Amino acid sequence: MRINVVGSGYVGTTLAASLADLGHEVTAIDIDEEIVATLNNGSAPIHEPGLDELVAQHAGDRLRATTSYDDVSTADVTFLAIQTPSREDGSIDTGALSAAAEMTGEALAGSTDRHLVVIKSTVAPPSLPCVADALATGLDESLVGDGGDRVAFGANPEFLREGTAVSDFREPDKLVFGTDVEWADELLDDVYAPLLAEHDASVVRTDPATAMMIKYANNAFLAAKVSLINDLGNVCKEFGLDTYEVAEAIGLDDRIGERFLRSGLGWGGSCFPKDTKALIAAAEGEGYSPVLLRAAVEVNDHQPERLVALLEEEVDLEGARIAVLGLAFKPGTDDVRNSRAIPVIEALRERGATVVAYDPVAGENMSERFTELEYADSAADALAGAEGAAVVTGWDEFAALDSEFDAMADPVVVDGRRVIERREGLVYEGLTW
Ligand code: UDX
Repeated sequence: MRINVVGSGYVGTTLAASLADLGHEVTAIDIDEEIVATLNNGSAPIHEPGLDELVAQHAGDRLRATTSYDDVSTADVTFLAIQTPSREDGSIDTGALSAAAEMTGEALAGSTDRHLVVIKSTVAPPSLPCVADALATGLDESLVGDGGDRVAFGANPEFLREGTAVSDFREPDKLVFGTDVEWADELLDDVYAPLLAEHDASVVRTDPATAMMIKYANNAFLAAKVSLINDLGNVCKEFGLDTYEVAEAIGLDDRIGERFLRSGLGWGGSCFPKDTKALIAAAEGEGYSPVLLRAAVEVNDHQPERLVALLEEEVDLEGARIAVLGLAFKPGTDDVRNSRAIPVIEALRERGATVVAYDPVAGENMSERFTELEYADSAADALAGAEGAAVVTGWDEFAALDSEFDAMADPVVVDGRRVIERREGLVYEGLTW
């Protein structure tokens, strides 16, 4: 099959390379010439394990990149994987996505062949019609009636995790096909047939708006699950109990499940914070304010402050040198978007502390956010002479720290991710245990 993927960010590149790997002829379209050149030279423009290898294998063969929409109509399907950034009020900005939809429409206007345009980006259900309208404007036809017989509009959300996106694509729990016409659904069947031949996944067939709601509900549920265990964790901490012991036991109930019960500093990244806020904003736009979701965000926003308060019980932060261990939003990535490290660092600096930060891979990205922070080359360097340490990301290498704590001026550690072993001589506090 011939497939276009518009947008070569994290989702678009993973999708384009993975579809090529499934055997499709894929054209990646991006307005950024540098990204296009990188792809055509056989490299991925973003860091994701296994992605460079896929791009290198298929670039110049089944995967080609271009800035031009000229050949859009030669394909059967176009996926739109354009970013939908948050606005100030939490709602998503569909401007760039709508512009891409309109250009796709224009490119399809002269053709008579059937074509399916699928939204991969995460778009709140009430905003979907405006993207469909942009496509129809470009086409200069309605998507229903005559136009709808030729160009269809669908949604096929992704559930990829950073760090495992390539294998998540290949081995999904479910595929969600949101379409309004049967031939569009059949085209999505053709797209995913090579994947489903090797991997058994449930296929959920629904309309585009429900497909997007499934994506939001999925992320909202997981984010709220973590916030609930964090809320319970804060209660456990007040009671002098270990949340992890409690979580292990409740996870044995298969209605609860053992995953996503690691309490601590909370969630960050490019999805959970953005998607929960966008869902709340979209719901409020329709007149309903989701109480539990707002509370999930509130708990998440509060955890960094609790960590700093725990540190403050042991250390006078004014003028103190504090090591922040971990800057990435989770281990295994250099992504610092919405990392809990950001509010932790801000709160420490507000209290007059001097922060020395370390992360195995994310220091450079964080240095764009905090330019004048001291960045250490190792956890040992960050700890040397520090009067306190905050563990923000659960990197494995932090679990191996031992004698490095001896070099601290005051061996005080507040662990936000349950990675450090308690040891003699170390004043250790867990955030929720
Ligand atoms: C998430 C979803 O899992 C994925 O399906 C969606 O498409 C994009 O958002 P990702 O952001 O890569 O993926 O990270 P994930 O591994 O799900 O973790 C999200 C955040 O929750 C991280 O900050 C992580 O540290 C935190 N988390 C997760 C916890 O604090 N405790 C847990 O038990 C699990």
